[in-house]
Amino acid sequence: MKKTRNAQSNKSLWWQDGVIYQIYPRSFMDSNGDGVGDIPGIIQKLEYLQELGVAGIWLSPINKSPMFDFGYDVSDYRAIDPVFGSMKDFERLIKEAHRRGIRIIMDLVMNHTSHLHPWFLESRSSKENLRRDWYIWRGDIKGKYPNNWMAYFGGRAWEWDDTTSQYYLHSFLKEQPDVNWRNPALKNAMFNEIRFWLEKGVDGFRLDVVNFFIKDDRFRSNPFGIGKYLRPYDLQKHIYDRDRPELLELLREWRALLEEYDERMMVGEVVAEKPNPALAANYLGDGTDGLHLSFDFSFMNRKWDASLFENRLRAYHERVPEKGWPCTVFSNHDQVRSCSRYAKGDDAEKRARVLATLLITMRGTPFLYYGEELGMKNVCIPKSRIQDPVGKRYWPFNPGRDGERTPMQWSDDAYAGFSSVEPWLPIADDYREKNVTCQLNEWNSLLNFYKSLIALRNNSVALRRGDLAFCDAGKDVLAYRRSVDEEAFCVALNFTSKVRQCNLDESYDWKVVLSTHRRNGEQFQFREKLFPYEATVLEQTKKR
Ligand code: NOJ
Repeated sequence: MKKTRNAQSNKSLWWQDGVIYQIYPRSFMDSNGDGVGDIPGIIQKLEYLQELGVAGIWLSPINKSPMFDFGYDVSDYRAIDPVFGSMKDFERLIKEAHRRGIRIIMDLVMNHTSHLHPWFLESRSSKENLRRDWYIWRGDIKGKYPNNWMAYFGGRAWEWDDTTSQYYLHSFLKEQPDVNWRNPALKNAMFNEIRFWLEKGVDGFRLDVVNFFIKDDRFRSNPFGIGKYLRPYDLQKHIYDRDRPELLELLREWRALLEEYDERMMVGEVVAEKPNPALAANYLGDGTDGLHLSFDFSFMNRKWDASLFENRLRAYHERVPEKGWPCTVFSNHDQVRSCSRYAKGDDAEKRARVLATLLITMRGTPFLYYGEELGMKNVCIPKSRIQDPVGKRYWPFNPGRDGERTPMQWSDDAYAGFSSVEPWLPIADDYREKNVTCQLNEWNSLLNFYKSLIALRNNSVALRRGDLAFCDAGKDVLAYRRSVDEEAFCVALNFTSKVRQCNLDESYDWKVVLSTHRRNGEQFQFREKLFPYEATVLEQTKKR
């Protein structure tokens, strides 16, 4: 399936146009009654995803793993972990998904491997081993650590290994040793692993912690600075243990590899302590030689406020290179679900609709996290059921990430229709009212609202491809125009629980095409009052 045409041509590209749906496979659908989601379970639900209208699914890791970090510690890049199924199942998933026009994006965890990966076992066996330099080993400095680098999940980033009396580097758990991307043989081996999946027909990759890949070649200690939290990790400026300039060179090679094939893509997870849209945009290179997409997580902790949202959007979109492409993300498997983050008493569901409209109509590729379309919230996990290593380490200060990873709520059957047995994580208490079956039957549900929004986007060039211009519509209203040639829409979002004034360009007529409060086809005056939490998409037409 080698490339047959230039990926930069004008033809629309699936990863720019379509909505991408993130699945956390352990929690999507359990087909074999072991309490853990699996690949055959995902296949069973492809029809649902097709009807939702998504263009691609990103699967959190399914590679073989001892699961110290639930798959983000890979022990064999070419194997599927048996808990998720077999290679045959995965091949069937690709085939069945493609048959429905759905692309498959795999998570590539290549900043580190599992400590049980055969490469690491060899590397740690002796200083002379051919794979020694595939990982990052350093001696002590006068009995102390090689430098001040800390692990993201707590403690030092250096782990002493008695076998050869040196430290190895691990930016996350000690069971996740960092590989050495500066070593050409390691890079070559990793690129071969990627080729393996490209040849299998995988359409894209999400690059885990991409900005950690390359470290300072002189191993300088990070300077101190104040971050968001008071963990030792956040008291450093991470200028030497990540975000090294050489990373862009590596990404260029990576991009060249993907461009040998037709229509493949990569989206990078760019970690930053503070909102940093410039950093996320930087890894797009000039838009043709870096990542195809990079996540800007600036919204994750943004206060619910129209003008603050607009500032963040502007800051990111202004920095995306002209030939590059933005993306939008409000939730994932590491963050408190948007519906809990932006919840305010009974307003959670109303805010969820405002957010849904923003996600699907903003310029750039939308990433939708499983269950977000139902308004699933974080679940409070009792201590005895915590699975996440972060939660185990920091409870009760930080309960970890299990709360946003609970099973998908399919129906009001036992275990929410996810499994026939007690699942690996508890099901949310609200599953009897909040589930796919219920919401499909309720015309005004959040799920059906998402379906309408996605269908609108899929049918409109302006919403998929059009330019973005913010409009000054009034206080507490986020409004923007999406247009291409003659087709133009204006999206108006009232972020408050109060009626708000919305002022549009009076030289046009405005007609509702989708709204939380109005009927499709209704006229909308250029000066209108928006209902509390109203989200309305308007078509702009020439004045008659
Ligand atoms: C980021 C992933 O999203 C997270 O779940 C994981 O724990 C770390 N990277 C380490 O791989």
